[in-house]
Amino acid sequence: MADSDPDLPASTHDLSAQFRKDVLVGLSQPQKVIPARWFYDLRGSELFEQITSLPEYYPTRTEIGIFRECCPKVADLVGPGRVVVEFGAGSAAKTPLLLDAIAPGAYVPVDISGEFLRESCVALAERYPDLPIIPVEADFLHPFPLPAEAGQGCALGFFPGSTIGNMTPAPAVDLLRSMRASLGDDAMLLIGMDLIKDEQRLVAAYDDAQGVTAEFNRNLAARINRELGGTLPLDSLDHVALWNEPLARIEMHLRATRDIAFEVCGEPFSMREGETIHTENSHKYSPTSADLLLLAGRWEPVAHYFDKEHLFMVVLARAISTDMTA
Ligand code: AVJ
Repeated sequence: MADSDPDLPASTHDLSAQFRKDVLVGLSQPQKVIPARWFYDLRGSELFEQITSLPEYYPTRTEIGIFRECCPKVADLVGPGRVVVEFGAGSAAKTPLLLDAIAPGAYVPVDISGEFLRESCVALAERYPDLPIIPVEADFLHPFPLPAEAGQGCALGFFPGSTIGNMTPAPAVDLLRSMRASLGDDAMLLIGMDLIKDEQRLVAAYDDAQGVTAEFNRNLAARINRELGGTLPLDSLDHVALWNEPLARIEMHLRATRDIAFEVCGEPFSMREGETIHTENSHKYSPTSADLLLLAGRWEPVAHYFDKEHLFMVVLARAISTDMTA
């Protein structure tokens, strides 16, 4: 790319080139769309952190409550010495609940952003001075080799937060299969999945009274303006969160409140009043649909853990042996 900066590491070039491509391609579709992964620049990550403690946003605190209860049981089922492979830089609130319970052999956080990865490793290394911690900077959408320094223990994948819900079913299955390939034959997986519930509760979680989620959504447009020389009129883009019942997902959109025209990377775009940019899907599951997704991804459910209200679910699964998956 013409503006690549020789002082930045290659992965930073790759990322910003990918961002530009996703935005330019996405804004050229009949239904404008930008992949949700681009929410998480520094500001977006801060705002998401705020979202997790909003009264309406039940998933984070509910999942933490489930981990408090289930991690001792998970420890019995997975045994000691597991190489814990977390998909995403570790969560300060969740990762220790697992690591404290299971006597892990090593901890391997995998994240596309080396910056977040290193930050979370520093905090964990202080807390677990005797645990080998080996960060892997990789895009976990594709299979990657486990680092040799992690030792010979069987892997335990850890994918909390219902992050899987950002993907439509086909890419979600691809991701689960890719995790299965990376983690190996004797692997297990501990995954958080948000449950279908009444529409009001779902929508409120993505359209909070304080407007933090609205700001999180609008920050994506602000990020395009900052990083891609965009001229999106932020005041004329409304936050929309809606429940798509047939597809069992919350969708977030940015909706033009008037006819607008703007540029990104020098390219012109326009939106009619009411037209939207689709910025996120957050799929919700029933225990049955969750199991089916995991099975399609070559993981056999072993145990399901719920909170009392059945708002959220944590599933422990084991890799389906390769000879059964032809
Ligand atoms: C981090 C993807 C699980 O879908 O609930 C929170 C992101 N978006 N509020 C979710 C999010 C709006 C979150 N995940």
